[in-house]
Amino acid sequence: MKSRNANTDKKKYIVTGGNGFIGSHMCRELVEQGHQVLVIDNFSTSKEEDWHGFGELVNVDIGDFNKVKKVLKLFRPDGVYHFAGRAIISESENNPLLYYSENVSNGISLIKSCVESGVRKMIFSSTCATFGQQATPVLESNEQNPINTYGRSKLILEKVLYDLSVKGLMDTFVFRYFNAAGCSEDGLLGEYREVETRLIPNIFFSIYGKKNLFIYGDNFETLDGTAVRDYIHVLDLVKAHSLGMQKLHTFKGWQSFNLGTGTGYSILEVISMVEKITGKEVKYSLRDRRVGDPSFLVSSCSASLRAFGFSSKRSLKEIVIDVNNFFIKRLKNERVRYSHSSF
Ligand SMILES: NC(=O)c1ccc[n+]([C@@H]2O[C@H](COP(=O)([O-])OP(=O)(O)OC[C@H]3O[C@@H](n4cnc5c(N)ncnc54)[C@H](O)[C@@H]3O)[C@@H](O)[C@H]2O)c1
Repeated sequence: MKSRNANTDKKKYIVTGGNGFIGSHMCRELVEQGHQVLVIDNFSTSKEEDWHGFGELVNVDIGDFNKVKKVLKLFRPDGVYHFAGRAIISESENNPLLYYSENVSNGISLIKSCVESGVRKMIFSSTCATFGQQATPVLESNEQNPINTYGRSKLILEKVLYDLSVKGLMDTFVFRYFNAAGCSEDGLLGEYREVETRLIPNIFFSIYGKKNLFIYGDNFETLDGTAVRDYIHVLDLVKAHSLGMQKLHTFKGWQSFNLGTGTGYSILEVISMVEKITGKEVKYSLRDRRVGDPSFLVSSCSASLRAFGFSSKRSLKEIVIDVNNFFIKRLKNERVRYSHSSF
């Protein structure tokens, strides 16, 4: 089936989870490129007041089959960027049913709405957590053996999309992000959740006096004992999605891509970079390792380069500079808006 707007570069896209961290940057990029964007978000892990108006937004759960199908039939998108989901490993371990309902059942419902509305191009946000423990830079072909419920929930949806592609019902790129970080350079969009588990925002919450910082484990099989991760700037991720979707418009089938930088940093190295950029000391307390936390996760980057010319451009230093600007701006606005609130 040809794309509905095949004669023009300007397309119509659904962005599920477009009010969240990565989705909001995606919406901005698409709108700035002149595309028409419709966001489906139920504000379950983001705040309505953080909506910045990049596109139109409907407050609908992706699992609400009838409403989503109606939206798709009316909007007639050329493709779907599927970001909506839950993404906290510890929460998934404590409440597996929540993760299988949100990431799997609701994801399948969204996909069914797409199939029944004739929408067949999807980029699905998956994760390096589908791999589990890996010793080397992780290739797409590495065995996937997730060690937590979050990773398993994402892997199931990957397989659903694979089976549908074999039947010719959906064309899908699965993007397995490593650690998304950073924010828009002007500090408008960023990561600022009340329940935050990610390292970089938590370091900033701690240096700006909002929360104490905990480091989970110093006995990983790494050089300094803290976990090594591959931090990719969200603006690079968004670029990968744009290039990927352009390719997907002429692609049939299913393919997975690992999205990272190919370089890993330990937690202590990230802390040291934040101290260097901000000139502030980062204080932390050590806690036990969390269940299901691998030692070392760094992406191989060759597949996305070969398929659609993507390679990440921004460094850890740029990530930290951008997040610092975002926090300074956000906290200043917060002081003005909520002068009596503690969060
Ligand atoms: N942030 C990362 O480092 C990272 C790494 C790997 C994979 N991912 C994946 O990328 C995607 C986006 O991550 P994020 O960090 O932007 O998360 P986020 O929590 O900031 O954003 C998710 C958005 O989806 C919305 N949402 C959740 N469930 C929904 C539902 N049932 N219906 C409609 N909207 C719903 C939330 O309200 C929120 O706006 C997630 O699927 C996540 O698993 C993220």
